Amino acid sequence: MDNRPIGVFDSGLGGLTTVSALGAIAPNEDIIYLGDTGRVPYGSRSRDTIIRYATQALSWFTLKNVKAVIIACGTVSSVALPRLISALPLFGVVEPASAKAALLTPEGSIGIIATNATIRSRAYEATLAKNSRGSSVLSRACPLFVPLVESGYIAPGNAIVQAVIADHLADLRGNVDTLLLGCTHYPLLKDAIAQFMGTAVNIVDAGAETAQYALSRIKPTAATASGTLKCFVTDRPDNFEKVGSLFLGRDLTGEVTQVTLDS
Ligand code: DGL
Repeated sequence: MDNRPIGVFDSGLGGLTTVSALGAIAPNEDIIYLGDTGRVPYGSRSRDTIIRYATQALSWFTLKNVKAVIIACGTVSSVALPRLISALPLFGVVEPASAKAALLTPEGSIGIIATNATIRSRAYEATLAKNSRGSSVLSRACPLFVPLVESGYIAPGNAIVQAVIADHLADLRGNVDTLLLGCTHYPLLKDAIAQFMGTAVNIVDAGAETAQYALSRIKPTAATASGTLKCFVTDRPDNFEKVGSLFLGRDLTGEVTQVTLDS
Protein backbone atom coordinates (compact mmCIF):
# COMPACT_ATOMS: atom_id res chain seq x y z
CA MET A 1 0.00 0.00 0.00
CA ASP A 2 1.15 3.54 -0.71
CA ASN A 3 -0.96 6.48 0.44
CA ARG A 4 0.93 9.16 -1.48
CA PRO A 5 -0.93 10.95 -4.28
CA ILE A 6 -0.60 10.17 -7.98
CA GLY A 7 0.76 13.02 -10.13
CA VAL A 8 -0.88 13.81 -13.46
CA PHE A 9 0.95 16.14 -15.81
CA ASP A 10 -0.30 17.89 -18.93
CA SER A 11 0.60 20.95 -20.95
CA GLY A 12 -2.80 22.39 -20.09
CA LEU A 13 -6.21 21.26 -19.00
CA GLY A 14 -6.79 18.34 -21.41
CA GLY A 15 -5.18 15.89 -18.97
CA LEU A 16 -8.30 16.21 -16.84
CA THR A 17 -9.77 13.56 -19.15
CA THR A 18 -7.17 11.19 -17.64
CA VAL A 19 -8.08 12.40 -14.12
CA SER A 20 -11.65 11.53 -14.88
CA ALA A 21 -10.65 8.04 -16.04
CA LEU A 22 -8.51 7.54 -12.89
CA GLY A 23 -11.40 8.64 -10.68
CA ALA A 24 -13.75 6.16 -12.36
CA ILE A 25 -11.39 3.21 -11.72
CA ALA A 26 -9.79 4.19 -8.39
CA PRO A 27 -11.97 6.82 -6.69
CA ASN A 28 -10.04 6.70 -3.41
CA GLU A 29 -6.65 7.75 -4.87
CA ASP A 30 -5.49 11.33 -4.16
CA ILE A 31 -4.40 13.16 -7.33
CA ILE A 32 -2.13 16.15 -7.84
CA TYR A 33 -2.65 17.68 -11.28
CA LEU A 34 -0.23 20.06 -12.94
CA GLY A 35 -1.24 21.88 -16.12
CA ASP A 36 1.40 24.11 -17.69
CA THR A 37 -1.29 26.52 -18.89
CA GLY A 38 1.17 29.41 -19.10
CA ARG A 39 3.04 27.62 -21.90
CA VAL A 40 0.35 25.52 -23.64
CA PRO A 41 0.33 24.44 -26.47
CA TYR A 42 3.33 22.12 -26.46
CA GLY A 43 2.17 20.50 -29.71
CA SER A 44 3.72 23.14 -31.92
CA ARG A 45 7.06 23.38 -30.05
CA SER A 46 10.49 21.86 -30.66
CA ARG A 47 11.69 18.69 -28.98
CA ASP A 48 14.29 20.52 -26.86
CA THR A 49 11.72 22.97 -25.53
CA ILE A 50 9.27 20.18 -24.68
CA ILE A 51 12.01 18.24 -22.86
CA ARG A 52 12.98 21.36 -20.88
CA TYR A 53 9.39 22.11 -19.83
CA ALA A 54 8.72 18.49 -18.86
CA THR A 55 11.95 18.30 -16.84
CA GLN A 56 10.86 21.35 -14.85
CA ALA A 57 7.46 19.78 -14.23
CA LEU A 58 8.99 16.54 -12.96
CA SER A 59 11.23 18.43 -10.51
CA TRP A 60 8.08 20.11 -9.20
CA PHE A 61 6.32 16.75 -8.77
CA THR A 62 9.32 15.39 -6.84
CA LEU A 63 8.80 18.13 -4.24
CA LYS A 64 5.12 17.16 -3.98
CA ASN A 65 6.03 13.64 -2.84
CA VAL A 66 3.87 11.80 -5.37
CA LYS A 67 4.24 8.03 -5.84
CA ALA A 68 4.27 8.19 -9.66
CA VAL A 69 3.54 10.62 -12.49
CA ILE A 70 1.16 9.89 -15.33
CA ILE A 71 2.21 11.96 -18.31
CA ALA A 72 -1.23 12.51 -19.78
CA CYS A 73 0.13 14.81 -22.46
CA GLY A 74 0.44 12.96 -25.77
CA THR A 75 3.08 15.39 -26.97
CA VAL A 76 5.36 14.99 -23.93
CA SER A 77 4.86 11.20 -23.97
CA SER A 78 5.82 10.95 -27.65
CA VAL A 79 8.56 13.51 -27.92
CA ALA A 80 10.24 13.71 -24.51
CA LEU A 81 9.56 10.65 -22.36
CA PRO A 82 12.58 8.57 -23.46
CA ARG A 83 14.81 11.54 -22.61
CA LEU A 84 13.34 12.37 -19.19
CA ILE A 85 15.30 11.49 -16.09
CA SER A 86 13.40 11.15 -12.81
CA ALA A 87 13.50 9.01 -9.69
CA LEU A 88 9.70 8.76 -9.93
CA PRO A 89 7.94 6.03 -11.91
CA LEU A 90 6.68 7.69 -15.11
CA PHE A 91 3.79 6.47 -17.26
CA GLY A 92 3.31 7.91 -20.75
CA VAL A 93 0.36 7.31 -23.05
CA VAL A 94 2.09 5.82 -26.10
CA GLU A 95 2.72 2.26 -24.87
CA PRO A 96 -0.71 1.55 -23.30
CA ALA A 97 -2.65 3.15 -26.16
CA SER A 98 -0.61 1.33 -28.83
CA ALA A 99 -1.07 -1.99 -27.03
CA LYS A 100 -4.84 -1.50 -27.02
CA ALA A 101 -4.95 -0.47 -30.69
CA ALA A 102 -2.83 -3.46 -31.70
CA LEU A 103 -5.10 -5.77 -29.71
CA LEU A 104 -8.20 -4.41 -31.46
CA THR A 105 -6.62 -4.37 -34.92
CA PRO A 106 -3.79 -6.88 -35.16
CA GLU A 107 -3.81 -6.93 -38.94
CA GLY A 108 -5.97 -4.13 -40.31
CA SER A 109 -5.45 -0.41 -40.45
CA ILE A 110 -4.88 1.84 -37.42
CA GLY A 111 -5.39 5.60 -37.61
CA ILE A 112 -3.52 7.87 -35.23
CA ILE A 113 -4.57 11.45 -34.64
CA ALA A 114 -2.61 13.85 -32.43
CA THR A 115 -0.73 17.15 -32.36
CA ASN A 116 1.87 18.10 -34.96
CA ALA A 117 4.76 17.31 -32.59
CA THR A 118 3.38 13.86 -31.73
CA ILE A 119 2.80 12.92 -35.36
CA ARG A 120 6.25 14.22 -36.34
CA SER A 121 7.91 12.09 -33.63
CA ARG A 122 6.56 8.84 -35.18
CA ALA A 123 6.54 7.40 -31.64
CA TYR A 124 3.25 5.57 -32.22
CA GLU A 125 4.47 3.98 -35.45
CA ALA A 126 7.60 2.73 -33.66
CA THR A 127 5.63 1.29 -30.74
CA LEU A 128 2.94 -0.24 -32.94
CA ALA A 129 5.59 -1.93 -35.05
CA LYS A 130 6.70 -3.77 -31.88
CA ASN A 131 3.15 -4.59 -30.75
CA SER A 132 1.22 -5.62 -33.81
CA ARG A 133 1.59 -8.52 -36.21
CA GLY A 134 0.93 -6.67 -39.42
CA SER A 135 -1.32 -3.67 -39.09
CA SER A 136 -0.71 -0.60 -41.21
CA VAL A 137 -0.75 2.90 -39.76
CA LEU A 138 -2.22 6.14 -41.09
CA SER A 139 -1.41 9.20 -39.01
CA ARG A 140 -2.79 12.73 -39.14
CA ALA A 141 -2.12 15.87 -37.15
CA CYS A 142 -5.35 17.65 -36.14
CA PRO A 143 -4.16 21.14 -35.17
CA LEU A 144 -7.62 22.68 -34.80
CA PHE A 145 -8.96 20.12 -32.31
CA VAL A 146 -7.15 21.56 -29.26
CA PRO A 147 -8.31 25.18 -29.75
CA LEU A 148 -11.80 23.89 -30.51
CA VAL A 149 -12.01 22.01 -27.22
CA GLU A 150 -10.28 24.77 -25.23
CA SER A 151 -13.03 27.08 -26.46
CA GLY A 152 -15.74 24.70 -25.29
CA TYR A 153 -16.80 23.45 -28.76
CA ILE A 154 -17.46 19.76 -28.12
CA ALA A 155 -21.15 19.08 -28.85
CA PRO A 156 -21.48 16.44 -31.61
CA GLY A 157 -24.38 18.36 -33.15
CA ASN A 158 -22.47 21.65 -33.40
CA ALA A 159 -21.90 22.71 -37.02
CA ILE A 160 -18.38 24.09 -36.35
CA VAL A 161 -17.33 20.89 -34.56
CA GLN A 162 -18.66 18.81 -37.44
CA ALA A 163 -16.94 20.96 -40.07
CA VAL A 164 -13.51 20.80 -38.36
CA ILE A 165 -13.78 17.04 -37.83
CA ALA A 166 -14.82 16.47 -41.44
CA ASP A 167 -11.93 18.59 -42.67
CA HIS A 168 -9.28 16.86 -40.51
CA LEU A 169 -10.50 13.27 -40.77
CA ALA A 170 -11.88 13.06 -44.32
CA ASP A 171 -9.10 10.87 -45.66
CA LEU A 172 -9.18 8.52 -42.66
CA ARG A 173 -12.90 7.81 -42.95
CA GLY A 174 -13.47 4.42 -44.53
CA ASN A 175 -9.75 3.62 -44.35
CA VAL A 176 -9.13 2.63 -40.71
CA ASP A 177 -10.49 -0.11 -38.45
CA THR A 178 -9.30 1.55 -35.25
CA LEU A 179 -8.72 5.23 -34.52
CA LEU A 180 -6.34 6.12 -31.70
CA LEU A 181 -6.97 9.48 -30.01
CA GLY A 182 -3.36 10.41 -29.20
CA CYS A 183 -3.98 13.78 -27.58
CA THR A 184 -5.46 14.69 -24.20
CA HIS A 185 -8.20 16.86 -25.65
CA TYR A 186 -9.61 14.53 -28.27
CA PRO A 187 -11.73 12.34 -25.94
CA LEU A 188 -13.92 15.40 -25.47
CA LEU A 189 -14.73 15.13 -29.19
CA LYS A 190 -15.13 11.36 -29.06
CA ASP A 191 -18.86 11.30 -29.77
CA ALA A 192 -18.54 13.68 -32.71
CA ILE A 193 -15.52 11.77 -34.07
CA ALA A 194 -17.31 8.42 -33.70
CA GLN A 195 -20.35 9.83 -35.46
CA PHE A 196 -18.19 10.96 -38.40
CA MET A 197 -16.04 7.82 -38.63
CA GLY A 198 -18.97 5.40 -38.34
CA THR A 199 -19.89 2.79 -35.76
CA ALA A 200 -17.66 0.07 -37.21
CA VAL A 201 -14.50 1.97 -36.22
CA ASN A 202 -13.00 1.25 -32.76
CA ILE A 203 -11.94 4.35 -30.86
CA VAL A 204 -8.98 4.15 -28.43
CA ASP A 205 -8.73 6.86 -25.76
CA ALA A 206 -5.01 7.09 -24.90
CA GLY A 207 -5.58 8.72 -21.51
CA ALA A 208 -8.13 6.16 -20.35
CA GLU A 209 -5.88 3.25 -21.41
CA THR A 210 -2.97 4.83 -19.56
CA ALA A 211 -4.98 5.38 -16.38
CA GLN A 212 -5.82 1.68 -16.34
CA TYR A 213 -2.25 0.61 -17.18
CA ALA A 214 -0.66 2.86 -14.55
CA LEU A 215 -3.08 1.82 -11.80
CA SER A 216 -2.25 -1.82 -12.42
CA ARG A 217 1.43 -0.99 -11.71
CA ILE A 218 1.19 1.56 -8.88
CA LYS A 219 0.78 0.40 -5.28
CA PRO A 220 -2.79 1.37 -4.28
CA THR A 221 -3.71 3.64 -1.39
CA ALA A 222 -5.04 2.14 1.82
CA ALA A 223 -7.51 5.02 2.21
CA THR A 224 -11.17 4.11 1.99
CA ALA A 225 -12.57 7.66 1.80
CA SER A 226 -12.97 9.43 -1.55
CA GLY A 227 -9.68 10.70 -2.96
CA THR A 228 -8.92 14.41 -3.27
CA LEU A 229 -7.95 16.33 -6.42
CA LYS A 230 -5.55 19.27 -6.14
CA CYS A 231 -5.01 21.25 -9.34
CA PHE A 232 -2.04 23.52 -10.06
CA VAL A 233 -1.52 25.68 -13.15
CA THR A 234 1.17 28.06 -14.39
CA ASP A 235 -1.17 30.88 -15.45
CA ARG A 236 -4.32 32.49 -14.09
CA PRO A 237 -6.63 29.76 -12.79
CA ASP A 238 -9.92 31.24 -14.07
CA ASN A 239 -10.08 29.68 -17.55
CA PHE A 240 -8.84 26.35 -16.18
CA GLU A 241 -11.59 26.46 -13.55
CA LYS A 242 -14.24 27.28 -16.14
CA VAL A 243 -13.33 24.78 -18.87
CA GLY A 244 -12.01 22.23 -16.34
CA SER A 245 -15.41 22.17 -14.66
CA LEU A 246 -16.84 21.23 -18.07
CA PHE A 247 -14.23 18.46 -18.49
CA LEU A 248 -14.82 16.95 -15.05
CA GLY A 249 -18.50 17.68 -14.72
CA ARG A 250 -17.98 19.35 -11.34
CA ASP A 251 -17.28 22.90 -10.21
CA LEU A 252 -13.57 23.70 -9.74
CA THR A 253 -14.07 27.37 -8.85
CA GLY A 254 -11.61 28.44 -6.16
CA GLU A 255 -9.88 25.03 -6.13
CA VAL A 256 -7.02 25.75 -8.55
CA THR A 257 -3.66 27.21 -7.47
CA GLN A 258 -1.17 29.09 -9.64
CA VAL A 259 2.50 28.02 -9.36
CA THR A 260 5.81 28.80 -11.08
CA LEU A 261 8.02 26.10 -12.57
CA ASP A 262 11.69 26.91 -12.03
CA SER A 263 14.26 26.22 -14.69
N1 DGL B 1 -1.68 18.05 -24.15
C1 DGL B 1 -1.33 18.08 -25.55
C2 DGL B 1 -1.28 16.64 -26.09
O1 DGL B 1 -1.90 15.75 -25.56
C3 DGL B 1 -2.32 18.90 -26.35
C4 DGL B 1 -2.19 20.40 -26.11
C5 DGL B 1 -0.83 20.94 -26.49
O2 DGL B 1 -0.52 21.04 -27.70
O3 DGL B 1 -0.06 21.24 -25.58
O4 DGL B 1 -0.60 16.39 -27.06
